[in-house]
Amino acid sequence: MTYDLLILGGGPAGFRAAERAGHFGLKAALFEGKALGGVCLNEGCIPTKTMLYSAKLYDYAKGGAAKYGVTATEAKLDHDFVVTRKDRIVKKLVAGVEMQMKKAGADVVRGNGVLAGKNGEGMFLVEASGETFTGKNVLIATGSSAAIPPIPGMSEAIASGFAVTNREILSMREIPARLVVMGAGAIGLEMASYFSSAGADVTVVEMLDRIGGRLDRDIAALLQRNYTVRGVKFLTGSRIQAIEGGIVRGTKADGSSFELETDRILVAAGRKPNVQGIGLETLGIELGKNSGILTDETMRTNVPGVYAAGDVNGVSMLAHTAYREAETAVNIIRGVEDSMRYDAIPSVIYTNPEAASVGETEETAAEKGLNVKTIKLPLLFSGRYQAENEGGNGILKLVFGEGKRILGASMLGNPSSEIIPAMAVAITRGMTADDLAKTVFPHPTVAEILRDAALTEL
Ligand code: NAI
Repeated sequence: MTYDLLILGGGPAGFRAAERAGHFGLKAALFEGKALGGVCLNEGCIPTKTMLYSAKLYDYAKGGAAKYGVTATEAKLDHDFVVTRKDRIVKKLVAGVEMQMKKAGADVVRGNGVLAGKNGEGMFLVEASGETFTGKNVLIATGSSAAIPPIPGMSEAIASGFAVTNREILSMREIPARLVVMGAGAIGLEMASYFSSAGADVTVVEMLDRIGGRLDRDIAALLQRNYTVRGVKFLTGSRIQAIEGGIVRGTKADGSSFELETDRILVAAGRKPNVQGIGLETLGIELGKNSGILTDETMRTNVPGVYAAGDVNGVSMLAHTAYREAETAVNIIRGVEDSMRYDAIPSVIYTNPEAASVGETEETAAEKGLNVKTIKLPLLFSGRYQAENEGGNGILKLVFGEGKRILGASMLGNPSSEIIPAMAVAITRGMTADDLAKTVFPHPTVAEILRDAALTEL
């Protein structure tokens, strides 16, 4: 049979594309060699959030709740239980995706799909599990893997299990006494948060002079301060250059060297698109940003009929971007106009407090030469925040452009992951401070701070 769509990879981009294709009456085959759900469900977004929630409750139980008049006698974090619960939730969600695939009428092929050119009728060919499949269109959604810096001692450290990535660390049954985290991006910070709450002595080493990558500078500094108070050590402006036995060595920005003795090292130094071994060369598919597959805003590659969505295009390596990119590709395939927008993609670091942002920061706006005004408010202006965040130092920064148009929002504080989506809507719809101020928000909510910022700007 000839499929409408052959999908390589069963992560958020792949399974969403299969689901949407089925929804619109297209027949898809989805190739996946591992569990459905990809990195996000199996070793990323979901497992980390289940573990971080346990850590948050533990932090309250072991003393954090005393600020609210609640004390407990014997707080204990049962890490083994936490990992078992995480596995159970992952299994349930993976089963949910399997169900979705059935409902969508998609054929799930267990095995890695490899592109094998075209047949005489111009149909695409994909080989998997010793069979050849034929389709009118292809969506490449093979995701990304942890980038392993090629520094001396790294491969031995990985082979021995001394160095771990996001994948292995989530299945470790013991808390190491000392943990060095390489990289203060989202993965590094979330894992530093969990393991420090769980009792490990954590040191985060980051090459840049700040944590959190492109997070707003004020927010990154506040987040770092919060975690420093909780006992996490940060070496910013410091690059890890070698691993030797149980020792991690590196250099600081001023040229001096440092040495850390540790029981484990988490490598969270970025991710690279999975473009090897999938037959890209058989069709001459070009690479672009971050060595990912080059795509335009319709998710088309340089080869007509071949699309790429999710981490594999290296544009915005986030599960929620992957969903929307997959939806865009399916719409284009079924002849419905659509295009991907990258100016309002939210990003959240699920530390406690959470850091969330969308759109421009003061810094990115300045880089683009935009004329902006930033309103910065403490979350303590919100009654609800005060009620639930004793001693909290959260802030909101809203960036307004010409005509008081909302261009960006950055926030530190709970539950910013649930508040920032409102600003994704505002930016996507081109809303202004006036539009926001004329929208009624429920009271009391932390989200009201958004309206306060808009009222300040008017
Ligand atoms: P990242 O690229 O966000 O951060 C890696 C950090 O490692 C960078 O700040 C870099 O300067 C640093 N680094 C690299 N080499 C180093 C060295 N030799 N010594 C010291 N520091 C070094 O990558 P990360 O955290 O691994 O995350 C990967 C991807 O997954 C990102 O695209 C992220 O957005 C996504 N992700 C998103 C999450 C979320 O939305 N909550 C959670 C986890 C991952």
